[in-house]
Amino acid sequence: MTSKSGINNMKKDTPSNAPVISRFSRRASVCAEAYNPDEEDDETEKRIINPKTDDQRYRLQEACKDILLFKNLDQEQMSQVLDAMFEKLVECGDHIIDQGDDGDNFYVIDRGTYDIYVKVEGVGRCVGCYDNRGSFGELALMYNTPRAATIVATSPGAIWCLDRVTFRRIIVKNNAKKRRMYENFIESLPFLKSLEVSERLKVVDVIDTKTYVDGEQIIAQGDEADSFFIVESGEVKITMKTKSKADVEQNEAVEIARYSRGQYFGELALVTNKPRAASAYAIGGVKCLVMDVQAFERLLGPCMEIMKRNIANYEEQLVALFGTNMDITDPIS
Ligand code: CMP
Ligand code: CMP
Repeated sequence: MTSKSGINNMKKDTPSNAPVISRFSRRASVCAEAYNPDEEDDETEKRIINPKTDDQRYRLQEACKDILLFKNLDQEQMSQVLDAMFEKLVECGDHIIDQGDDGDNFYVIDRGTYDIYVKVEGVGRCVGCYDNRGSFGELALMYNTPRAATIVATSPGAIWCLDRVTFRRIIVKNNAKKRRMYENFIESLPFLKSLEVSERLKVVDVIDTKTYVDGEQIIAQGDEADSFFIVESGEVKITMKTKSKADVEQNEAVEIARYSRGQYFGELALVTNKPRAASAYAIGGVKCLVMDVQAFERLLGPCMEIMKRNIANYEEQLVALFGTNMDITDPIS
């Protein structure tokens, strides 16, 4: 089927080669129900098994390796998720998701490229893309809201689909544990005060955690940026090489800041779209909460004023230290 825009509309996803054992049919409509996964009862849902070839199982496991929402599942939960997933082949131009629709599946990319469109005042704008990895379609299932974006394949590809019922039964329920673990910490962070309580809980949903050993580099000056960090424990040292010598590599790195529990770093390059302005190293063991750039942009807009004030402080500090603001916020020439 071809839409007015000339782009193929994909058939709704059901596995082509396997039985789906479920007492639940697709929901007729979705409203913004309260998020309370604890109310859903494990035992009332039947386990779904979609048989796979060895090759499919291998590719599925590879595709799911780095999916954040699968990270804290135990072995049994993970095997139930893998069993339930089914493969869908995709053609260039297929709409995998249309903004405003009900959420039926969560998707993990096996291969292919996909554009993300979000309507702003009725006009669809491309806000990003996925390139052969990653996942999408979790928001409507987690928060019982309509689809927040349109996802269009820009090449032939394949995606793995996880039905709504299994997603809510296993992933959403498991995520509630993470909320309980990080809720108080996130609530205590001054730079997130401009967010509503429900938005701060969504921050918990998207954070990953990473640990670093003493001396390990967390960020390298000059690198491209894709994430934002909050220190959960330990100390982080920020160092910068000045541009005083033609070859930046030959310059000594100077320590410009130290951060501990509750402080953040790595926002500057995401805000300015420039390379990392400084490096970050662990002092002793460090644990950070890490948010990817898509989640940073989607969730932290209301905190931008606070962050921008802080960036003005960086510039003052650099002028005092080096006699120049190091062009940290100037457009790339
Ligand atoms: P969902 O709302 O279920 O369906 C569309 C998906 O697009 C959404 O979940 C996210 O997984 C993904 N997405 C990627 N970027 C954005 C964005 N900027 N805004 C909303 N959704 C996005
Ligand atoms: P980013 O440029 O993404 O990566 C390095 C981080 O160091 C930067 O974001 C800031 O979060 C942090 N930083 C701390 N002090 C400064 C400073 N004076 N100038 C630039 N970055 C700083």
